[in-house]
Amino acid sequence: MKHEPVLEITGLRTSFITDAGEIPAVDGIDLYIEKGEIVGIVGESGCGKSVTSLSIMGLVPKPPGKVVDGEILFKGENLRTASEKRMCQIRGNDIAMIFQEPMTSLNPLFTIGDQLTEAIKLHQKMNKRALKERAVEMLKLVGLPRAEELMVNYPHQLSGGMRQRVMIAMAMACNPQLLIADEPTTALDVTIQAQILHLMKDLNNKTGTSIMLITHDLGVVAEVCDRVIVMYSGKIVEEADIKTIFKNPKHPYTMGLIKSVPDIREKKQRLYSIPGNVPRPGSIKHGCRFAARCEHAFDRCRIEDPELYTLKEKGHSVRCFLHDEKEGSVDDRNIVTSS
Ligand SMILES: Nc1ncnc2c1ncn2[C@@H]1O[C@H](COP(=O)(O)OP(=O)(O)O)[C@@H](O)[C@H]1O
Ligand code: SF4
Ligand SMILES: [Mg+2]
Repeated sequence: MKHEPVLEITGLRTSFITDAGEIPAVDGIDLYIEKGEIVGIVGESGCGKSVTSLSIMGLVPKPPGKVVDGEILFKGENLRTASEKRMCQIRGNDIAMIFQEPMTSLNPLFTIGDQLTEAIKLHQKMNKRALKERAVEMLKLVGLPRAEELMVNYPHQLSGGMRQRVMIAMAMACNPQLLIADEPTTALDVTIQAQILHLMKDLNNKTGTSIMLITHDLGVVAEVCDRVIVMYSGKIVEEADIKTIFKNPKHPYTMGLIKSVPDIREKKQRLYSIPGNVPRPGSIKHGCRFAARCEHAFDRCRIEDPELYTLKEKGHSVRCFLHDEKEGSVDDRNIVTSS
């Protein structure tokens, strides 16, 4: 893939200023998303995934939140210094966002048709009839049957999966160059979840829209992503292409996440979960943030904060001392990669 990023973030820090002090929810992350690429951002709840996406969109609630440092470039334009007026344009035309629960994003008082035509109208000038045709076409594009009928339905008359398809239709109405989907399938059952993910992949193929797919579930990432970024406690701890993440994970946290993915081919679902919890951002002053939960932790891990080490495989990096050459051969360390 040619290096042609739509989004390029460097040194992003976003904090919440509370009575208990500053909470560094996103603590210095660098990432990029290429044109046409689907990148998964993975980590348990509280790792800073949503705050990352809100920072990109300029929607961090302020106060108590604030982007305190870093650069967010969208096709070369620095969004951190863009005016609110410019951000409104970008949010409407260039970067679209969908969330976990479409019921909260759709207005219960208006029909699907009203809301969809309204969304299209914001970006394209056309007469009423053309608008309606375009709306029906969008509903068909996201695989909804009986699109004409749906136009006069209200959100509560649709299932969760159908509402999420409508949200995707609305997001795609403006032909965005980047779609940020924050846990878009978490509220849906497994079958519908797979359908929605494949719909997103399809749209990505057809339109070339880049997608940032945020999820706590590595199984979701496996379905559609090209590349994966694993976040833990406000930092990136591993990054690799999709094959490498599953075949050759390096961070003990990534390994734990992989073990936690339920295997639907097995009759008995494996219900492994990594022991312990994600620490509150800022609560760990020294050492690796994962140390308290890590079965490989050694003395150095409790004193020093590991950097992101670049590995030999292209595009693979990991924030773990086990991969610091100074610590000797990784092969000697008996790291268990599968359960
Ligand atoms: N409105 C807020 N006020 C204070 N702290 C917040 C707020 N929103 C998020 N945070 C902090 O940021 C951390 C990361 O949140 P978030 O990005 O929503 O996590 P994720 O999406 O990965 O589950 C939370 O654990 C919390 O400590
Ligand atoms: S640096 Fe140490 S504690 Fe952190 S993930 Fe690696 S081995 Fe575990
Ligand atoms: Mg979230």
